[in-house]
Amino acid sequence: MQLKINDTIIYFEEDLNEINDFKNQFNLNKYYLIVDSNVYNLYKDVLDKYFINNETIIIPSGEEYKNINTVFMIVDKLLNLDINRGDTIIGIGGGVTCDICGFVASILYRGIKHLLIPTTLLAMVDATMGGKCGVDHLNRKNIIGSFYEPKGIYITPYFLKTLPKEQYNSGLGEVIKYSFLDDRFDLYNECNLINIIKDSILIKKKYVEADFKDKGLRMCLNLGHTFGHAIELKEKILHGQAVLEGIYMIFNLEKDLGIDISNEQALFNKLLQKYNLEIKGYDYKLYIEDIYKDKKNISGELNLVFVKNFRPYLYKIRKDELYDKIIGK
Ligand SMILES: NC(=O)c1ccc[n+]([C@@H]2O[C@H](COP(=O)([O-])OP(=O)(O)OC[C@H]3O[C@@H](n4cnc5c(N)ncnc54)[C@H](O)[C@@H]3O)[C@@H](O)[C@H]2O)c1
Repeated sequence: MQLKINDTIIYFEEDLNEINDFKNQFNLNKYYLIVDSNVYNLYKDVLDKYFINNETIIIPSGEEYKNINTVFMIVDKLLNLDINRGDTIIGIGGGVTCDICGFVASILYRGIKHLLIPTTLLAMVDATMGGKCGVDHLNRKNIIGSFYEPKGIYITPYFLKTLPKEQYNSGLGEVIKYSFLDDRFDLYNECNLINIIKDSILIKKKYVEADFKDKGLRMCLNLGHTFGHAIELKEKILHGQAVLEGIYMIFNLEKDLGIDISNEQALFNKLLQKYNLEIKGYDYKLYIEDIYKDKKNISGELNLVFVKNFRPYLYKIRKDELYDKIIGK
């Protein structure tokens, strides 16, 4: 099955058998693979089979390597390999690899073609489609980056068989988020993984197409991310797990502000149970200072993503106003 979203063609396949058909869509000249080290070790033979005579740049795995040094390392290697502006880079890995690969593609020769092949659930449902790419810097998430869409994304659960459980659960964190962004998405009853991935992407599509540059509506995709990003960096937990913690925290904040969020909280708890997920349940009040350091803070105001009747909306508030409203709760 295929989808076209903005400029990106997305393939959804059970395995890698359609990869040649996928590559043929893009008139590839020469291409270079950028592969996460764990993925490379697990799938070296598979990559050699499907990407014959490829040049491969292996990058270290982990969020701590999602930084500008890795970007320069890749750029140096590509230039030493004589990449030219008609060539393509193909990122194969989780969200870290895909974010770095997209950013490199956006700056090299002021923009070269790139394709993404996500290998984690999180990257499949969230980190590859939509054109946001970049790296962390000075302990701030995604603070250096650009909007730059891949020409193609090839999604297959084939890779998930080796994904550690906690990483799979992290991907589920983002999927659960989508349950509160579209009241027609029935994650509770849907069990087919490809459908779950496809539906997640279709929900994201609505927001990305309406607001590519993230000026308004698209910010609703950040549900759970404002507190989530603070928790992710401070407590060193996985991104999707942090999103779950962030959803829990923002729902509690809404409740303290007198907003009836009981139906959403009930579904949240049901989904945690269904997927055997646990959260620590951080106190949002202890992270208010942190969230106002986020890059989404514009002139002292933050757009918090709230939900009402399974529809997200933005709630703009200054830090002092927020403290005033929740004091004593
Ligand atoms: N650009 C976006 O719109 C967007 C959206 C959401 C998240 N993100 C970013 O995505 C990143 C998180 O992505 P992630 O959770 O995929 O993390 P990740 O890329 O660090 O991958 C997680 C771990 O799984 C390993 N791995 C990857 N595929 C594997 C496989 N098939 N089998 C075994 N191990 C495998 C990796 O080596 C790594 O150790 C964050 O940096 C986040 O900011 C970006």
